Amino acid sequence: MLDEQAILDLVKSTDFESLPEAVELADFIKDSRVNGDHVTLQIMLPFPCDGVKLALADEIEAVIRKDWPQTNKIAVEIKSHVAAYETKAGVPPLAKIKNVIAVASGKGGVGKSTTSVNLALALAAEGAKVGILDADIYGPSVPIMLGIPDARPVSEDKKTILPLEAHNIQAMSIGFLVDEKQAMVWRGPMASSALQQIVRDTRWGELDYLIVDLPPGTGDIQLTLSQKIPVTAAVIVTTPQDLALADAKKAVTMFEKVKIPVMGVVENMSTHICSNCGHQEAIFGEGGGNILSEDYDMPLLGQLPLAMSIRQQLDEGKPAVADDPNSKISLTYREIARNLTANLSQLGKDYSKGADSIAIKTWSPSE
Ligand SMILES: Nc1ncnc2c1ncn2[C@@H]1O[C@H](COP(=O)(O)OP(=O)(O)O)[C@@H](O)[C@H]1O
Ligand SMILES: [Mg+2]
Repeated sequence: MLDEQAILDLVKSTDFESLPEAVELADFIKDSRVNGDHVTLQIMLPFPCDGVKLALADEIEAVIRKDWPQTNKIAVEIKSHVAAYETKAGVPPLAKIKNVIAVASGKGGVGKSTTSVNLALALAAEGAKVGILDADIYGPSVPIMLGIPDARPVSEDKKTILPLEAHNIQAMSIGFLVDEKQAMVWRGPMASSALQQIVRDTRWGELDYLIVDLPPGTGDIQLTLSQKIPVTAAVIVTTPQDLALADAKKAVTMFEKVKIPVMGVVENMSTHICSNCGHQEAIFGEGGGNILSEDYDMPLLGQLPLAMSIRQQLDEGKPAVADDPNSKISLTYREIARNLTANLSQLGKDYSKGADSIAIKTWSPSE
């Protein structure tokens, strides 16, 4: 005889490998049924999870079957629903965008744009609706990385602009609008207001996540942006080098100051993988991301190697995750994406942006 409560208790008390550490399955079981020798479970995870749905269902099935071998059919249905999480009071939310995630680094060249673009694509590969905003006004690189360097946004009403689409995500960049030399001479306040305008006047579609590739550093622009854009949470990109780490710490402190929760650290170029022999070497030292995450008590979301393919694919406008969403590197980005959004799902929900009301709200341009 199958005991529904005992089965539920077992599933609820098991740690599943394919689930990010931040979430407990017990919180997301929507329905359970036992009918004769059939077991049905319905699960609704709070983060996009297409990459682990099958593996998780298999894990759950195996756990049940081990204790109740007489079970005939076990049906585990896993879906995901992304909620809108609270942002700091005072910054008006973007009606169609549930969550804005800022990607920051203490200094340039650590792979912030590389991470932003692949993370955006990874979230889309996991099933989310995603946009990317290239806020690096002095060095926009998203247009090239997405393979649309010459694209120009269309304005249907002369007041708002439509985002571009590439590899299944929406994108907007200062690089689509002005040439680099023009942006280079803008001073901080001009750059920040140009960006705020782009954020507000872009007619984004309905998005679960908008990834914002912030300018490198922790100066005025970064601070203003994080205060003027309704940022839900931030991610810090660092390399294992000491210097980059010291800079990354400044980025952590900056977000603390503006009360934006940091969801974790991505360690980029953590080891070098030789394109010829596949040998891995920690040329910048080991464990930088770990040190940062321990010092500041924040999760290490994942580590990316320094790999020729990552750069080559970006230069060709087909980032790793767009090129092959199931390559080893892409799977790492997708795991980072799940860890990040699972952490995000632990924040307080913003009920004013409830999923249902979002669909019927009409977008209005900023004054
Ligand atoms: N993990 C990686 N492996 C190989 N090359 C990388 C990696 N991450 C970034 N790069 C390359 O390093 C350079 C700097 O990366 P980028 O993302 O533009 O840095 P940032 O935005 O922090 O200035 C780019 O040429 C990019 O292709
Ligand atoms: Mg960049």
